[in-house]
Amino acid sequence: MHQNLLKYKNYRYLKLTILLLISSVVLYLTHNEAQPPNGGTFQGYILGIISTFFILLLTYLGIRKRKYSSSIGTVEGWTSAHIYLGTSLLLIASLHAAFQIGWNIHTLAYFLMIAVVLSGFYGLFSYMHYPRVYSNNNTGGSQDEWLQEIAENDEIIKEKAGLCRGNIRLFILSALEHTSMSGKFHSQLRGKDSSTVKMQADSKKLISNKNQETVINVLSSAVSNSLNKEEAIALNSLLSLFSRRQRLLKIVRRNLQIKTYLKVWLLFHIPLTIALLAALIVHILVVFIYW
Ligand code: HEM
Ligand code: HEM
Repeated sequence: MHQNLLKYKNYRYLKLTILLLISSVVLYLTHNEAQPPNGGTFQGYILGIISTFFILLLTYLGIRKRKYSSSIGTVEGWTSAHIYLGTSLLLIASLHAAFQIGWNIHTLAYFLMIAVVLSGFYGLFSYMHYPRVYSNNNTGGSQDEWLQEIAENDEIIKEKAGLCRGNIRLFILSALEHTSMSGKFHSQLRGKDSSTVKMQADSKKLISNKNQETVINVLSSAVSNSLNKEEAIALNSLLSLFSRRQRLLKIVRRNLQIKTYLKVWLLFHIPLTIALLAALIVHILVVFIYW
């Protein structure tokens, strides 16, 4: 869907936006010497009202997205319009303010609007870029399939661990138990692996098992010190099972990281929108009080 957002219905909203921008510039140019450009002129008012109407319309996307029963257009159409009309605000609101940007409450609304638009650009980039990164990471599979495979792989690991001496078996079970898949939000964002493992069953100390490296290293050195042939075979299988596990966990963790990238920008876009609406109310009240 996101690839088509810009092209939606043969660039319908791009064309509409260009038309709107041309009309706004023409309106702005109708200012004359008797009435220099300003937010308070007739033209300024029209441009201010259009900007405010757009901001309300763009904010409505948050509601429209969640109203599956609505028949007013498709979410795709709304998002396409959102992107173009949102971007057009950069010019329309600047024309409204007649480029008079000072350090005051009016300008606060203006800067918040710019911040919302910039965060929107980043969101658009994410929606265009990350789905491709996601599908490259999955090479035809899906997160559910990888998770299922990890669970099955872990069952075999447990079986094979039963064929090893006690301390190795407990070490392996501890590696399974202390594998961290998702972690906190910031760990997901950084794709950080905080898996740990207990080296000794009777100790409480957990050491890092990032990327399953500790367990793989310990198993590699245990192979050469196997107690018997059966344990040597089990250790060799465990080594390849953990290598597969390492690979699968990397894919799963990267998927979670990409999904986090896809939503993290909304943590800026939405609160900034709320701040913009508040600053806009203040701006409008202030201009009417001091009118
Ligand atoms: C119904 C909507 C709006 C009305 C009635 C309105 C009204 C006004 C008026 C009367 C002025 C002139 C103030 C003066 O010169 O002292 C002004 C200036 C301005 N407005 Fe608006 N406005 C509206 C929407 C917006 C929007 C959506 C933005 C941007 C997010 C905005 C940003 C500004 C800025 C930056 C100025 C220039 C302030 C300055 O001269 O320092 N306004 N507006
Ligand atoms: C002042 C202008 C803007 C306002 C007030 C605004 C507001 C919003 C709101 C309230 C949402 C809904 C978020 C949610 O509930 O999940 C949203 C989503 C979004 N916005 Fe904006 N936005 C603006 C400008 C932009 C711009 C310029 C772009 C891109 C160039 C953009 C891109 C997006 C995208 C891609 C979404 C997500 C749509 C989806 O998840 O389907 N926005 N915006």
